[in-house]
Amino acid sequence: MHELEATAVQQALQTAWIGRAYHYFPRVTSTNDLLKAAVNAPDGATLPAGTVYLADFQESGRGRLARRWEAPPGTSLLFSVLLRPDWEAERLGWLPMIAGLAVARAVEEVAGVVVGLKWPNDVVVQVDGRWHKFCGILLESGAARAMSSSYVIAGIGINVNLPAADLPAARFPATGLMLAAGAPLSRRALLAAVLGHLEALYEAAAQGQPPHAAWRERLIWQGEWVAVSGPGPGEGLHGVLAGVDESGRLLLRDEDGRVHAFAAGDVSLHGPPPEP
Ligand code: BTN
Repeated sequence: MHELEATAVQQALQTAWIGRAYHYFPRVTSTNDLLKAAVNAPDGATLPAGTVYLADFQESGRGRLARRWEAPPGTSLLFSVLLRPDWEAERLGWLPMIAGLAVARAVEEVAGVVVGLKWPNDVVVQVDGRWHKFCGILLESGAARAMSSSYVIAGIGINVNLPAADLPAARFPATGLMLAAGAPLSRRALLAAVLGHLEALYEAAAQGQPPHAAWRERLIWQGEWVAVSGPGPGEGLHGVLAGVDESGRLLLRDEDGRVHAFAAGDVSLHGPPPEP
């Protein structure tokens, strides 16, 4: 039996509803695309919240900002979770924080390494004193059809047992958990831990408990000079990273002490402005 097939995963799960409807695919285009197509199919309303689609390999895995997400078979966790939050719109910004925190807590538990969060959706570990990304999260929302309730698909990609030679080349350096922890990890144990933490955090949020304080504790580069690129060209800004607000917006204090909040974008280390 493959370690990520349904029977094996069901035995490891400790959740009530996330992952209880579970589909394993040896190869797909993208688990986000496949799950989205299923939710939008005529019988999509019957797909329960917590449904997980997981693939061993994606032909066209997608990341944020139209980037690609690539991983060889047998090395990673590549999965999408269907959520049907019936919360007020202001709380939808909690979902990326909940997903990132779930991965961070699960990885610390299973791999025993210290995990940080890079705004908005990356999960990172230290290698040689520098933060490296091992997990990316892509949240996509929609309404299946007019008048029907809305859904969010949380697509999560985790580099688990990826050899160094297969790491993607990226401006922000990438790594995998085997490289960071020094030994291969059980993808099944890690998946079960992520889904367990995801369910606990989601249910706390549904009860009104915001995740931003726990998220902010892990936020990297706080107090450092960074550049934030906004969603549109020319919308970038430099300043000191001052944290996140309750909706998960990044707070940046500029040279004049004004605080700006970003709902989307990318952050990179910049260094202080030159002395006048
Ligand atoms: C990012 O860092 O830009 C987000 C990467 C998200 C990758 C995951 S892998 C499973 C799911 N299916 C996809 O096509 N993308 C997400």
